[in-house]
Amino acid sequence: MSERVKQIVPDLIEAVRNVLRDHKVTFDEYRAGFGYMIGVQEAKEIPLLLDALLNSTIVEIENQTRGGTKADIQGPYYLDENYPLVTKALAVRPEDADAEDMIIRGCVTDLAGQPVSGAEIDIWHSTPDGLYSGIHDNIDRKYYRGRVLTDADGHYSVTSKTPVAYQIPNQGPTGELLEKHLGRHSWRPAHIHFWVRCVGKRDLINQAYFEGGDYVGNDCCETDHLDLVVPKIYENGKRVMQVNFVLEPAYTISAG
Ligand SMILES: [Fe+2]
Repeated sequence: MSERVKQIVPDLIEAVRNVLRDHKVTFDEYRAGFGYMIGVQEAKEIPLLLDALLNSTIVEIENQTRGGTKADIQGPYYLDENYPLVTKALAVRPEDADAEDMIIRGCVTDLAGQPVSGAEIDIWHSTPDGLYSGIHDNIDRKYYRGRVLTDADGHYSVTSKTPVAYQIPNQGPTGELLEKHLGRHSWRPAHIHFWVRCVGKRDLINQAYFEGGDYVGNDCCETDHLDLVVPKIYENGKRVMQVNFVLEPAYTISAG
């Protein structure tokens, strides 16, 4: 890693210096930028700001070497701990009982189209009012998060409640930058997050979107990953999100 740091950081600093030179940034502007970054740190928004501005670029780079299903941004709301293993349903917050029912299902295959059994899929998404458990409003982390395993045919299926488009936090410095200074919005289309893992296969982080949903293709995080926009299908009143994944082998990726 230190070799990579030696390669990347001087170029990064020089790229920033060139922007400062090109725009003839003044001492006052430099101090204002400095103060902004301190504000981002104090608001604990470093993950939010970086994900909103740069995560989609890392995805773009990753996808240059990826076969099968392309990757998408992870976002800042993954909880880096073991998700509960679920077989039928993600835990639903009691007050969401009347929200729209949803089935998340699909299959995992390899590049040859053969089913991948025993793949682990972490699934997480917002509440029906756009909040994340374990992150917002003291919502218990058990809700709307779970790990499913594919069966012998590579299939998985769980029920949940349909999430909605939501605004990333916009009352702090990230929202101020996007909305006030850059004239952008702070909305993400409704989506479901996935992290697919299987021994011998390359991990896949992804998101599925709802066809026709607000902000699909106009995401504040600038992801243009539209491979997994799921058609609007209902079964017995439940929104069906059919999300299939194709995994490639776990190659060793060369930095060169
Ligand atoms: Fe999200």
